[in-house]
Amino acid sequence: MDIWHIRGGRRLCGTASVQGAKNAVLPILAASVLTGCETRLSNCPDLMDVDGSVDILRCLGCRVERSEGGMYINSSGPLRSTIPHDLMSGMRSSVIFLGAVLARCGEAVMAMPGGCELGPRPIDLHLSALRDMGAHITVSAGNIVCSGALHGASINLALPSVGATENIMIAACRASGGTVITNAAREPEICDLADYLRKMGADITGDGSSTICIGSFSPKSSVEHSVMPDRIAAATWLCACASAGGEVAVDGAVPAHLVPVTQALREMGCTVDEYPGGIKICAPDRLRAPRPVATRPYPGFPTDAQALLMAATLKAEGTSVFTENMFESRFRHVPELRRMGAEISTEGRVAIVRGVPSLHGAPVTATDLRGSAALLIAALGAEGETVLHDNCHLRRGYEDPVKVLTALGAEIR
Ligand code: UD1
Repeated sequence: MDIWHIRGGRRLCGTASVQGAKNAVLPILAASVLTGCETRLSNCPDLMDVDGSVDILRCLGCRVERSEGGMYINSSGPLRSTIPHDLMSGMRSSVIFLGAVLARCGEAVMAMPGGCELGPRPIDLHLSALRDMGAHITVSAGNIVCSGALHGASINLALPSVGATENIMIAACRASGGTVITNAAREPEICDLADYLRKMGADITGDGSSTICIGSFSPKSSVEHSVMPDRIAAATWLCACASAGGEVAVDGAVPAHLVPVTQALREMGCTVDEYPGGIKICAPDRLRAPRPVATRPYPGFPTDAQALLMAATLKAEGTSVFTENMFESRFRHVPELRRMGAEISTEGRVAIVRGVPSLHGAPVTATDLRGSAALLIAALGAEGETVLHDNCHLRRGYEDPVKVLTALGAEIR
């Protein structure tokens, strides 16, 4: 259990640098086993979820060396095709290893990922797509057992699932014949994975649109790749400034990746400007409620930023409305925010925030990764001390939040 002490009420001023993206590096690490090539990553974030993927890579038989911001992976040796339950259960996104291990080894055995803090997390789309590509899959005693030589296929996803799109892209690289994914996810992390796979020798087009084509593959012996900046970490520092007040430059933030978030912050009265290499925010003393926010697949408002923006609206004048369309249980931070004086009511997928003049510090408990970041954001804008009890959620996705925030003038330890 981590315990974070945050004394709020200090304006944030200065520059925050954005880490490499968690949701980009995890599928890239899985894809690194595809051919047996060497991978050298830079801008690789130091996160607990990355540690979890490294454990899986080592268990599969890869050599992994880490340095500050860098990672070397050599997957040339013989590879195991089984991932034990304890390594799978630590992290829901480990399901992304399924396509990679199956494509490399012709078989894969791993534990079925269960639900998580956000509610049920089905993987039916991953499995049916791999079946369409020729995999034989059985699920028994909580294990997924896959085997078979893969062939290309036309796959129309019922939902633009990020993880399913990534699993199919990775597996399709080594399938015989081409694959076309329609209704594919369009998130920037999909494009980063496609860039990495192209450097590996894949022929991929259409990433960033809803139709992705994967063609022939000419494997290379080594790949170098710099992981894209983390747009959700960037959103976190922008929302932290909105909550606490002040003026912050977020270095490395890509404006095009954050349009719905910066638009909402502008509606709240913040000045948000692009500069070469980042985004700068200047927050007024009193914010106002933004227009209703509804989470959607990219390029819509990201579900991962819903709790972050909500935390920034707690003291905004007026009523803010949030509709969560992506996950069933993504308001678990709400009762914790109420402990700090927030006025929030929820009904099903809708949360209504009535802005209060001030918040106060309180003991709170983190519920999930972004929920925990939301509590941190609210605490920075609250009077007095908040003690955040966090079962390592924050460290799953943020490299060194104390360092980033103290550099901006926050009091946090
Ligand atoms: C990824 C991100 C996560 C983000 C989410 C949505 C990573 C490591 N995680 O998660 O941070 O919140 O995208 O932007 O990149 N679904 C099904 N069947 C499936 C797969 C998904 O019904 O087989 C549903 C899910 O329950 C959810 C929706 O599709 O309601 C979106 O999920 P998906 O895009 O797959 O999210 P992840 O890839 O798990």
